[in-house]
Amino acid sequence: MIDFLLNGQRRQCAVSPDTSVLELLRDTLGQTGTKEGCASGDCGACTVAIGETGPEGQVNYHSTNACITPAHQLQGRQLVTVEGLAQGDALHPAQAAMVACHGSQCGFCTPGIVMSLFTLHEAQRGERQIPSPLTPQRLEAALGGNLCRCTGYRPIRDAALTMSEHPERRPQWLDAAAPQPTASSSDAPFAQPETLAELVELRRRHPEARLVAGATDLWLEVTQRLTRFERLIDVTRVAELNAIEATTLGDGRHGWWIGASVTYSRLEPLLEERFEPFAHLLHRLGSAQIRNRGTLGGNIANASPIGDTPPVLLTLGSRLWLAGPDGERELPLDDFFLGYKQTALREGEVIRAIFLPHPDPQRHLAVWKLSKRREDDISAVLGAFSWRLEDGVMRDVRLAFGGMAATPKRARATEAALECQAPTRAAFETARLALGDDFQPMSDVRGSAQYRQLSATNLLERLRLTIMQGETDSPREVMLHAYAH
Ligand SMILES: Cc1cc2nc3c(=O)[nH]c(=O)nc-3n(C[C@H](O)[C@H](O)[C@H](O)COP(=O)(O)OP(=O)(O)OC[C@H]3O[C@@H](n4cnc5c(N)ncnc54)[C@H](O)[C@@H]3O)c2cc1C
Ligand code: FES
Ligand code: FES
Repeated sequence: MIDFLLNGQRRQCAVSPDTSVLELLRDTLGQTGTKEGCASGDCGACTVAIGETGPEGQVNYHSTNACITPAHQLQGRQLVTVEGLAQGDALHPAQAAMVACHGSQCGFCTPGIVMSLFTLHEAQRGERQIPSPLTPQRLEAALGGNLCRCTGYRPIRDAALTMSEHPERRPQWLDAAAPQPTASSSDAPFAQPETLAELVELRRRHPEARLVAGATDLWLEVTQRLTRFERLIDVTRVAELNAIEATTLGDGRHGWWIGASVTYSRLEPLLEERFEPFAHLLHRLGSAQIRNRGTLGGNIANASPIGDTPPVLLTLGSRLWLAGPDGERELPLDDFFLGYKQTALREGEVIRAIFLPHPDPQRHLAVWKLSKRREDDISAVLGAFSWRLEDGVMRDVRLAFGGMAATPKRARATEAALECQAPTRAAFETARLALGDDFQPMSDVRGSAQYRQLSATNLLERLRLTIMQGETDSPREVMLHAYAH
């Protein structure tokens, strides 16, 4: 039984572990304003907002794709759908602006667009003391997960830019904290442990259960492969997995342990402030809806060859903090990926946290993501490169690629070819040949083997040009570029 608020009304519903928020809304509660387009988190037609009560009692709303959000994760939360925004005939500013700007044509994508505008409006409202301007980047970030194929985006963009000029009609219940649900039994088919000890014990008792965090990978097994989950263990409420802690490793490196359940949206402010270049990559990862739910731990545990963060973390020398029935251990990320979707996690183990080192002013970092679309698209190839320049030669060269092998992988032969070399054409020609030894990529829907090999070679050439330019510009600055083509 889940207990939550739907548009301010308390609801208690019995749902199975693999029911999505979209199914709950449309099939059980008859709320059909939220639409199903792709059922895979890509189109945004199903966008709804989930409110969580913050430490000072304020309710913070984030957008999510209802099609891939487990209904159980609504427990003790406020769910807002398009049906809840208007009060009688008085439209919410997001709706009024869409009408005034003619932002809707087919109407199918409109509820999702309105809900993304609603969460943008709520975020801006929360910033009334120090409002952030609605820059094109912020607008793109808010709407990048909503597809519209008929009106074009200009009227929708106009609506976003003008919604604050419409009368502020905001349902009062938006500020109501959801009911505190009674703790679910640890044997519930959708268990929601709150401590690491409870999580590890549940894993021990139910080895067959799958873990779920943001569900932005896992739920595609439900909607695309029609997998049924009898039992799931939700890691999103485990306190230890939600912490971000400053740390110093045994080898003297300073950095942070980022809890595995920390979402990209929560990570963004820290990266923007302290590791601003890494934030650029997150801006290109999925959509706002995906970044609001997806976690760093999920990206790594999923062990996809095209996950965005592993190649970057491999070049940064990241480590994992694992916890299981036999205690806790640390593992270099280098040793984690064993084969396609295979990892070094032992039975019952979970990722507790990921080590992110402080940016080192002596090291350079460049990351280039190649995908078909700029917004909300998975990489075809991602190259992450890190090196120091000492007396004109490259040292500690670490190069990693996504999309080039069965796992995210370091290019060891290419690294060796460049180590202690000046960044000359000749050194990079040797490196280019070595790249052929490092990788024999596959062809798939995102790119042919030939495209991938050529792209990786071109990224290597781009690296050479970047180093040559960096030598004349600002050689000591950490650089990170996340481009999509
Ligand atoms: C539309 C869309 C766009 C996307 N775009 C991108 C993109 O641009 N770049 C990219 O890299 N990815 C992308 N993804 C994939 C996905 O969003 C990321 O991989 C995300 O980080 C997964 O995190 P999650 O919390 O949702 O994981 P989940 O889906 O909840 O879990 C993924 C896997 O990790 C396991 N797991 C989760 N937490 C732990 C833990 N603590 N310990 C051990 N195992 C654990 C789960 O059991 C599951 O097997 C996209 C997905 C969608 C649907
Ligand atoms: S239906 Fe397309 S994102 Fe959910
Ligand atoms: S109005 Fe529906 S696709 Fe654009």
